[in-house]
Amino acid sequence: MGIKENREANKELSELYRVSSILEDALATGEMGNHTTPTLEVFSEKELSPLDIMKEEVNKCTKCSLYQQRNHVVFGAGKTDSPSLMLIGEGPGYNEDRTGIPFIGKAGQYLDKWLTSISLTRDDIYIGNIVKCRPPNNRNPYPEEEEACTGYLIRQIEIIKPKYILCLGKVAGNALSGEQTNMAGLRNKERIYHGVPFIVTFHPAAVLRNPSYRKDVWSDLQVIAKTLNLEVNGRKKKSEIR
Ligand code: URA
Ligand code: SF4
Repeated sequence: MGIKENREANKELSELYRVSSILEDALATGEMGNHTTPTLEVFSEKELSPLDIMKEEVNKCTKCSLYQQRNHVVFGAGKTDSPSLMLIGEGPGYNEDRTGIPFIGKAGQYLDKWLTSISLTRDDIYIGNIVKCRPPNNRNPYPEEEEACTGYLIRQIEIIKPKYILCLGKVAGNALSGEQTNMAGLRNKERIYHGVPFIVTFHPAAVLRNPSYRKDVWSDLQVIAKTLNLEVNGRKKKSEIR
């Protein structure tokens, strides 16, 4: 039975319950009073969005061996109705696995600064990952793990419909471009993934280890700001909104 039919059946049962309790009282007391009875919730099925349904499915996923050591699936977080930007990282680390929230460790706090610099907050964007369970000791995901998990990412993109994607790091860049190349080959080129344009920049953890990447990240963020018509340090960029 669908949710709509359930709701109809619920209403009918509540009404039946209400009428029968009035009749019962009338029989007992000999009069028909003013009756209000609480709604009888026969079916507790709540309305789930396609993304909620998917999340329940992924929380139980055992499609690759990463499920064995996970504490939490890190499904993704943020604005789910056509955000201007979706960020895609590699996979959960220690803190993310503990909490189920993407990018909340050191790299995540640094990432927040990047967002602030182009007038964005986490509530404006959606953050996802290539694999949704933590690879042991933060190793890169194996190809078979990426393969098992990217179907979920594609479904997320189709449901959420971000206008633009920024890949964080080589793992995400390789996965979305389908090209096994280094950062120099991945950066400075707009590609399309399942209908959504994307570019690749360094992973915030890599920039924390290697501050010399900072100017490249800054220049990539300028591309995002220009494309999405975002303010940079208080200055509005003159460009088309996409
Ligand atoms: N690094 C990632 O790639 N993703 C996260 O969610 C956290 C750290
Ligand atoms: Fe499933 Fe992805 Fe977790 Fe592997 S990483 S178990 S495919 S959710």
